[in-house]
Amino acid sequence: MPDSQPDAATAVSDLPARIGQRVTLRGWLLGRRDSRGLAFLVLRDGTGFVQVVVSQQAVDASTWADVEAATQESALEIVGEVRADERQEGGVEVAAEGVRLISLAEPYPITPKSHGVEFLADHRHLWLRSRRQWAIMRVRNRVVWSIHSFFQERGYLQLDAPILTGNAVEGTSTLFELDYFGQPAYLTQSGQLHGEALAMAFGKVYTFGPTFRAEKSKTRRHLTEFWMIEPEIAFCDLDENMAVAEAVLLRIVGDVLAECTRELEVLGRDRSALERVKPGFPRLSYSDAVDLLRSAESRRLLDEEEQALHDEQAALDAERETNHQAYAGAAKGEKRRIDAREIEINTRIERIAETLKNVPEWRASAEGFEWGGDFGGSDETVLTKHFDTPIIVHRFPQEVKAFYMKRDPEDDRLALGMDVLAPEGYGEIVGGGERATDLDFLKSQIAAHGLPESVFEWYLDLRRFGSVPHSGFGLGLERTVAWVCGLPHIREAAPFPRLIGRLNP
Ligand code: 4AD
Ligand code: MG
Repeated sequence: MPDSQPDAATAVSDLPARIGQRVTLRGWLLGRRDSRGLAFLVLRDGTGFVQVVVSQQAVDASTWADVEAATQESALEIVGEVRADERQEGGVEVAAEGVRLISLAEPYPITPKSHGVEFLADHRHLWLRSRRQWAIMRVRNRVVWSIHSFFQERGYLQLDAPILTGNAVEGTSTLFELDYFGQPAYLTQSGQLHGEALAMAFGKVYTFGPTFRAEKSKTRRHLTEFWMIEPEIAFCDLDENMAVAEAVLLRIVGDVLAECTRELEVLGRDRSALERVKPGFPRLSYSDAVDLLRSAESRRLLDEEEQALHDEQAALDAERETNHQAYAGAAKGEKRRIDAREIEINTRIERIAETLKNVPEWRASAEGFEWGGDFGGSDETVLTKHFDTPIIVHRFPQEVKAFYMKRDPEDDRLALGMDVLAPEGYGEIVGGGERATDLDFLKSQIAAHGLPESVFEWYLDLRRFGSVPHSGFGLGLERTVAWVCGLPHIREAAPFPRLIGRLNP
């Protein structure tokens, strides 16, 4: 096989347009199946997955020896003809004429059997090569692109806030502190305050950067490092701010539905859950949300869900039992199907068991919720069970919100904050609000929150020189990706997630 140029390879994703042509592919061996004189190789190249058929008769002896030797994750270059085959992934397969072994992989630690999540997390650098992670990372990329397109098309400037800062933004209990040449510094919790300075200079801006929270909480929603998109808009009130948040979320969901069909399929994501996300997200005041949380209707929804989960669990147990009985007498192909289904059933049963364990806590938290408290993850889960689309909760008790929030002119107990809560138990994906504009009020808030005024002098200048109504929000990228993809835990939404107790790889 002749040496080919580095740019000569065809992307697997382009193969459906190359039927009947001879192509060169470069990638890695994800899996293989062999039968007499034939090897069926699943090749992945990052753009997609394709079955390559190698016939011993079509290649020379040394090539066939390489094909036989190729282990999982060995790197290969393949030349062959693209053939239409409806039964195959992408509707094509490649009949190989030449196979070159670029590198032979050592025995690969991640095998088709199921692995524990800690094992996978330890091998994140390799786990990323799996089909499922392929799908998630591509959706993440699509979400990022949608967000940039959305804001760029509307004239926002993307500008960056610093990562090293001298001030807190979101409360001092979750700050990562460092020694900055003898002076305390922090990893930023949010680009907002700098975003406000940028909005006063450029009108409409958004920052898009890593943000950090020294969260002690080990939940399915918390990372210690996550990416946040933070638009900040001059001459914008709370209502307009909510409209922007809704519009960007609609754009994200619409784009993912349109562009990530294969990815959602790989993830087994219920498309209809995303298709139900329609304009007009219900807007509830905090007080109305509290009433809803404590209502008999909330209790009824939880009871129903509990019953449905018990029923599903029983059905899965029965299916597993039937499969076990059929296994011994089953043909090879059927055994493979049962093995794959076993993994699915176990994963689902684990999730059901976890949810069932949580329901009593959700019920207790909802029933006992007192006006004035902040919604926890459980409360958000219960609230969002009432709706198919995200909801926007606004006007929170000022005590649970940050120092920079504007007070509600109609009720001084309330801050003009808003949170967007995603359905299906995903909870808060956006937090923001209208900012306080009054210099003296802000000074009093800084003092009331026990923050040192000196490091906020620059921020107070924004109220000294041309203070105007303005608003903004932060959209958590990983929480949004977790929701769109239907992931059970946020850790899979970041390429290299940082959680409490997880700094490697
Ligand atoms: O609600 P938060 O804390 O709001 C702010 O930081 C504001 N300063 C943003 C602004 O108005 N410009 O965070 C905003 C969003 C949350 O809704 C959530 O999506 C995400 O950031 N987020 C986290 N994501 C993952 N792990 C964590 N520990 C997160 N904390 C917040
Ligand atoms: Mg928040």
